[in-house]
Amino acid sequence: MGESKDIENLLKTYNQEHIVKMLNNLDGDAKDKLIRQIEKIDFEQLTELYENTKKEIEIKENKIEAIEYADKEKLTEEQRNIYNQKGEEIIKNGKYAVVTMAGGQGTRLGHDGPKGTFKLDVYGKGKYIFEILTETLKEANKKYGVTIPWYIMTSKENHEATQNFLEKNNYFGYDKNNIILFQQGELPLLSLDGKLLMGKDMKIKEASDGNGGVFSSLRSTGALADMKERGIEWVFIGGVDNVLAKLVDSTLLGMTIYKGLQIGSKSVVKANPHEKVGVFCKMNEHPKVIEYSELPSNMAEEVDSNGELRYGESNIACHLFSIDAVDKISKEVLIYHTAIKKNSYMDENGKEVIPDDVNTYKFEAFIFDAFDLFDDMAVLRVKREEEFAPVKNKEGADSPKTAKELYENFWRGFKK
Ligand code: UD1
Repeated sequence: MGESKDIENLLKTYNQEHIVKMLNNLDGDAKDKLIRQIEKIDFEQLTELYENTKKEIEIKENKIEAIEYADKEKLTEEQRNIYNQKGEEIIKNGKYAVVTMAGGQGTRLGHDGPKGTFKLDVYGKGKYIFEILTETLKEANKKYGVTIPWYIMTSKENHEATQNFLEKNNYFGYDKNNIILFQQGELPLLSLDGKLLMGKDMKIKEASDGNGGVFSSLRSTGALADMKERGIEWVFIGGVDNVLAKLVDSTLLGMTIYKGLQIGSKSVVKANPHEKVGVFCKMNEHPKVIEYSELPSNMAEEVDSNGELRYGESNIACHLFSIDAVDKISKEVLIYHTAIKKNSYMDENGKEVIPDDVNTYKFEAFIFDAFDLFDDMAVLRVKREEEFAPVKNKEGADSPKTAKELYENFWRGFKK
């Protein structure tokens, strides 16, 4: 009883009285579960996140410059050899791991299930995204004579479905002991006036805390410790939705090592000023990606003296970190960005409300905000048609249709 009173007070302190009423309408197990959930919420953090939604993002106040990058096409033979040799040494010695961030909701794709379980209509029979990624890894394993440990980040929402899918498909022939699933964290959603939302299951509505959650969850789930135990020194971290992602790239790895840096990433030339990709730059002397949702239009369109987009090096979510970098970042708190979304909820009378318009704030950390913790990073510009075929939207740009075309064209060229 006392416990319930404490929770009531806590909710009242943070202006969440509507939850008190709903809590008191519950009993037994359901009530217990809700109390346990509320106890875990960091209300101070939530209050701060809500207050931040009222602030304008002022990119212009910072010192922003274009980032330096190396064009893979334009490397000299000597550079290429040095980089490849350095990279290969790490991979062949079993010091390289791959992390796939697959905790996203994939709402834009409209696929009912984890994105990796989406079947891309290639070569008639089709291939699941997870199948394609497995093939990429298996090929690298063959080339380097190793089995690369593959860590897959899931979310509370899709963990079980991901696990079941991979089991059912016998991990697409990958060594099961080298596939490690780990779950990312969640944060409550807030209504536009700062209230927690109650779900149909009578639990507070929460959502994945963004792909920047990868570092802290690698630590909290023990996956980072597992990497260290295996002697991993370099970790590739990429999104689940790029079917041409080169998960094992000795050039990027070797270049990063050669330059004495701890992080690296790949870019492609932006297709048009308003393509929905983040762009690399340096902000206040630190490497950074400005996400498409936060890049002011005039900056997106700015061109340099060669007539090229000043902020044209686009992020394809193919990042590389030394294990020390992962360790360091995992102890830091990354900033959260706010997205405005549409979410249904239960009102105080136990009636479900399905909104017509956006009604909630969702808080997400972005993986690339970790770059700010370093003075410099290696950026390798690669060819879009060779390494970037994202599956994001149901139709139009970055859809299964465009990804299929890019995937088939790439492999056709390869077989010639
Ligand atoms: C992302 C990049 C963007 C880049 C584009 C290239 C971020 C924040 N944005 O955009 O700069 O140009 O890819 O394709 O990285 N994910 C999780 N957990 C989450 C949220 C996302 O694992 O909580 C995963 C998704 O499954 C996906 C990846 O992170 O694999 C990126 O997802 P999303 O946040 O939707 O970013 P995009 O809009 O795809």
